[in-house]
Amino acid sequence: MPVKFSATEGWYPFIKGITYDQWLNSGEISNKIIDLYIDSIVKAHQNGVVYGDRWGPNTMVVGDTTIIHFDFDISLEGIPAKEFELAQTLYYTLSFSSKKEVINRFLIRKLRSIRKTGQYNWKTLLRLIKGHYRHFRLTKYVCSQSFI
Ligand SMILES: Nc1ncnc2c1ncn2[C@@H]1O[C@H](COP(=O)(O)OP(=O)(O)OP(=O)(O)O)[C@@H](O)[C@H]1O
Ligand SMILES: [Mg+2]
Repeated sequence: MPVKFSATEGWYPFIKGITYDQWLNSGEISNKIIDLYIDSIVKAHQNGVVYGDRWGPNTMVVGDTTIIHFDFDISLEGIPAKEFELAQTLYYTLSFSSKKEVINRFLIRKLRSIRKTGQYNWKTLLRLIKGHYRHFRLTKYVCSQSFI
């Protein structure tokens, strides 16, 4: 939340942490932060909020227990917006990660539990994850096909 704002500007507290993509690339990644990250997105969706622009540099990891989202794109809306955002969140988590095999297994388990909530159109979600893979397959952000 801004600490001060006017009609045209907002001032935010400085967050002492590292960005989620830097954290994913560090040697110290734990399932706990990834869990928190994905749960925060799913919880927002449950409450009718799609943050928009959820890629690594737009979230900070502070210590071992806290994540803070910033830099939103509230124009991301419409029927498949939450499926798009979850696909983006999962794909980027995997592609930025320094331990892709471990994270891959963790995300597959996580996906199974999210599916049980019945909150997402599963066909659309899988199509959007595949779309991310196709979009990034010739770049350094390519990730293992076993997730697709
Ligand atoms: N409140 C904050 N405290 C600490 N660092 C921040 C904060 N806000 C932003 N940063 C750092 O600055 C980087 C860029 O910030 P931000 O995502 O808001 O701008 P941006 O991506 O350039 O904007 P846009 O998406 O409009 O191009 C972040 O990835 C993060 O490293
Ligand atoms: Mg940004």
